[in-house]
Amino acid sequence: MVRPSSVTLKIIMAVSGILLVLFLFAHMAGNLKIFLGETDFDHYAHWLRTIGTPLLPDTWFLWIQRALLTVALVAHIYAAAVLTRRARQARPVKYAHRPKIQGSYAARTMRWGGVIVFLFVIYHILDLTTGHLNPKGDREHPYANVVADFAPDRWFVTLFYTLAVVAVGLHLAHGIFSAARTLGQQTEKGQKRAKYISIALSLVLVVGYLSVPFAVLTGLVD
Ligand code: HEM
Repeated sequence: MVRPSSVTLKIIMAVSGILLVLFLFAHMAGNLKIFLGETDFDHYAHWLRTIGTPLLPDTWFLWIQRALLTVALVAHIYAAAVLTRRARQARPVKYAHRPKIQGSYAARTMRWGGVIVFLFVIYHILDLTTGHLNPKGDREHPYANVVADFAPDRWFVTLFYTLAVVAVGLHLAHGIFSAARTLGQQTEKGQKRAKYISIALSLVLVVGYLSVPFAVLTGLVD
């Protein structure tokens, strides 16, 4: 049985995390197309299914991307679980008085934050990709699905998305910083810079993602 070292596992976490972050930026940029109107947004969503054609058959690129994202997600969770287990085994006795201050809020909520994001992604796919949990659920009209989803009387859906996106932001504020450290950032100055960059990137994502549901909720997009 291969037993990867903790350093290898951290590298797996960093590289898989970066892949997932790249997807998040691309997905956010695509979502912002909603501000260009229904035709542009639906055209974009349709294009996603035909990227790579005619070299590849329809939807192949999409499925390759899905497979890569799934591998990255499984690797990320696997490495996190093994690293956590090793950390626990290193100290089987719980702290009698757990020190209150143990890193930032973002750092302390990595595990639960990750679980919330994971559950959100499952809900989100059933909502806006397959349409099963969407009031419209019409795969040919993603713009209409998004507008129906975040309608004012479904404020609880917007609330849930908001909590999930904030959880993504907190997870990344610490995750990007950790990845930079794993991949070689060592100086004190670099550490500060990595912290600012991680927070800035996370804020861009949170604002970018949340702009869509809130634009629908407030009637800016309808
Ligand atoms: C809050 C704003 C968001 C909106 C409005 C939104 C919108 C959408 C839409 C419309 C689709 C379906 C695209 C299509 O099949 O035509 C989709 C798919 C998806 N979204 Fe989001 N999304 C949001 C946030 C997120 C977040 C925060 C994540 C990840 C943490 C995420 C991950 C995904 C994934 C994995 C898919 C499936 C992609 C595929 O079909 O392979 N989304 N989203």
